Amino acid sequence: MLRASQQSDVTQLPAWIALQDHYQSMQSFRMREAFQQDSQRFTRYSMEHCGIFLDYSKNLITDQTLSLLFQLAEQVGVKPAAQRMFQGDLINNSEGRAVLHTALRRPMGDQLHLDSQDVMAEVHTSLARVTDLVERLHHGLWRGYTDKPITDVVNIGIGGSFLGPQVVTEALQPLTRAQPIRCHYLANIDGSEFREVVRGLSAETTLFIISSKSFSTLETLKNAQAARAWYLGQGGTEAKLHQHFIAISTNLSAAKSFGIREENIFPMWDWVGGRYSLWSTIGLPIALAIGSANFKELLAGAHRMDRHFLNAPLEQNMPVLLALLGVWYSNFWGAQSQAFLPYDYYLRNFVKHLQQMDMESNGKSVTRDGKPVSYATGPVIWGDVGCNGQHAYHQLLHQGTLLIPADFIVPANSYNAVSDHHEWLYANCLAQSQALMQGKTFEEAVAELRAKGLSESEVQQLAPHKVIPGNRPSNTLVMERITPATLGALLALYEHKVFVQGCIWGLNSFDQWGVELGKELGKNLYQHLTTRTPSEAEDASTQGLIHYFRQHHRG
Ligand code: F6P
Repeated sequence: MLRASQQSDVTQLPAWIALQDHYQSMQSFRMREAFQQDSQRFTRYSMEHCGIFLDYSKNLITDQTLSLLFQLAEQVGVKPAAQRMFQGDLINNSEGRAVLHTALRRPMGDQLHLDSQDVMAEVHTSLARVTDLVERLHHGLWRGYTDKPITDVVNIGIGGSFLGPQVVTEALQPLTRAQPIRCHYLANIDGSEFREVVRGLSAETTLFIISSKSFSTLETLKNAQAARAWYLGQGGTEAKLHQHFIAISTNLSAAKSFGIREENIFPMWDWVGGRYSLWSTIGLPIALAIGSANFKELLAGAHRMDRHFLNAPLEQNMPVLLALLGVWYSNFWGAQSQAFLPYDYYLRNFVKHLQQMDMESNGKSVTRDGKPVSYATGPVIWGDVGCNGQHAYHQLLHQGTLLIPADFIVPANSYNAVSDHHEWLYANCLAQSQALMQGKTFEEAVAELRAKGLSESEVQQLAPHKVIPGNRPSNTLVMERITPATLGALLALYEHKVFVQGCIWGLNSFDQWGVELGKELGKNLYQHLTTRTPSEAEDASTQGLIHYFRQHHRG
């Protein structure tokens, strides 16, 4: 292992250098021909683990590509790095923290100590508290200030304290119907969002969860204050506030100062990053929405993927493979973005969570030891639900000038059979990856147009527009159905993919200093807007925009 410390330059590793040469030799590679020449390509380049079937045969790869990529993972020391994460080493070096979201899904009885902390005991104690609260709410035992049972829960939180729970709850919506509590999410510091979320709710039967690891996030605190004012304005009393506000946080004192009773504060830990926190107490709204048993299934599915990631050899390791394919396209083929295209209504916001997980983790340009990188790191993550995207941006995927690798995600079964809709949905998903891979040659376009009886000049005029370059890479991830277990595995799969890429790029994937500057500047600018303090020190553009606001804002 040449690079366990992550300190040396990845571009100097033998495998990286060999991949640069190999990239040149792949310029004439055509996937279409590779499929024609090798009837085993699909069988060799597909795998199934933890309920997820991955077809990676539609990639710009040969056995040699894969061999070099696995050598890269070996030379970087991906496996030992994973061990260090799972055992609680302080791998988040800029914050001096361990990274232990994987502990949150480990079964009872496992042992893990961090300094003097019995991590697994704390994890399971907090999970038991979550289960207990869910039971009380589901059975109408948690009551509001007029003694009516709580019917609605509003999660106030942003970033990781919002996206994970919201996306998972939505992904498992069919399982929420059996549950008596409705969950709502309030994230942004936008009065419209606040009004829309509380519209139709009754304070008597609403419980607010203030979900903030730090309990210092502007948007969350402002919304928490607005919620408290709304509750009081609707007839709630200070004396019964504890029946309507609970918190999830590491910052006990700040939560208590807000007025939350200590017994209503659920713990979080420094060793859980916000974007990796849906497995923790931050997942309380998920458990409320789908039930505790299903929440535990979600954890179990993720744990299965953790075991796979830790134990499977590099060559059969799904997260490692996805990470290496991403590196192949980002660092050798110059891809700057990656699309995620779920073909399932319930996964329609799934990409937002992946986006935060990936871009907040690997959107960095210095290595763990603070040296500027000389290579591309995290790509832009984007995408939306299919088929909708086919009638929008897929045009660019097929005929644009950019190379954009895509992950298609599709279940074999829908929760809602309507006629043959699901067969059509699945067929369309496959058609997209096939079209990206196959494309259409000039000769095929010409033959097609001639067959339609067009004149030869029309044929020649139209044919170039009909050419689809093809040879565009994609993975397809299929599962029998989106269940808590397969969803847990899918989420953990992408978490580990991001981790492996961070290892290869030598990054600390678990801090997010880049978001701080905007927060600091926001405070200054708020002062300028509201107290009319002089803004001459600001740049001309910002001054002009402050001026516009002062002239036009009507309070
Ligand atoms: O600003 C980014 C961030 O720190 C995320 O990483 C985090 O998930 C989010 O803000 C919310 O933070 P908190 O849970 O501390 O309110």
